[in-house]
Amino acid sequence: MTHYKNVLDHYANTNTSFLHGAGIEGSKHLLSVAKLAGNESVFELGCGTGASLILLKHNFPNLDICGGDLSQTMLKAAQKRIRFCGLHKQVTLYKLQQNQAIPFPDNSKDVVWIESVLAIQNDQQFDFLLTEIHRILKPGGKLALNETLWLPHVTIEQANRLNEECQKAFGIIQANANNARLDTWRNTIENKGYSIDYQENIESFSGSTLWNNSYRSKLFDAWKKTKQLVNLKYRSDHKTISQKGEQIISSKVKVLNAYVVVARKC
Ligand SMILES: C[S@@+](CC[C@H](N)C(=O)[O-])C[C@H]1O[C@@H](n2cnc3c(N)ncnc32)[C@H](O)[C@@H]1O
Repeated sequence: MTHYKNVLDHYANTNTSFLHGAGIEGSKHLLSVAKLAGNESVFELGCGTGASLILLKHNFPNLDICGGDLSQTMLKAAQKRIRFCGLHKQVTLYKLQQNQAIPFPDNSKDVVWIESVLAIQNDQQFDFLLTEIHRILKPGGKLALNETLWLPHVTIEQANRLNEECQKAFGIIQANANNARLDTWRNTIENKGYSIDYQENIESFSGSTLWNNSYRSKLFDAWKKTKQLVNLKYRSDHKTISQKGEQIISSKVKVLNAYVVVARKC
């Protein structure tokens, strides 16, 4: 018995940060390979609790940066973090709607930043989002991704079966069986009008010394973590999520890998 319908609600309610492959180190690595100049207009799609927005703004204070998410609960958590970090006048959040245009004009963004959002979309949504991102990016603009994909040996049937179990247990799929496969991922992105500049497996990373996280964002995480530890409901949900996750996708058999990808709008 858990207290959420969708596991993302649990993560939003517990203000969990860096919900993607290699956690904060994955974000720092994406920051290294994305090679930002520091004055770009950046939109983060699926910004979750806002930790990467703060990481980016902390390291590049002159970025014109904003984030958007479908989940009101995630946005509420992101808003609290941004306010705590004193950046509420500089980082804007947008409530996005499924199947509706991202609220920016054509050719208006230099960078779209995405971590663990595209791989969990169904076929139609994946296609829609890639088209929308292409529309809002300036020509030559960058799409910076960190996504967890199925390894090539995983069949579509196997991925579909694991996704069904994840959907039942967590309310979301692990990774789209048709698109979030290493062997098709690149082709799909390229066919939508992007060229891929960089791709790397980010399986094991040790700390990057190049980038620092904001002290206040770290403090915000520590404070929320302490609150979680004393909340029996969240502790119990957390334990159930870990146990169910291990039952469905055992860490002993490798079926997934996280990748950073930097693509460019052609
Ligand atoms: C796994 S979480 C990752 C959150 C954040 N990017 C991170 O790495 O911590 C996925 C996030 O994407 C959001 N999301 C899922 N589908 C979306 C969509 N079509 N448009 C915008 N946000 C979406 C979810 O609400 C959730 O906040």
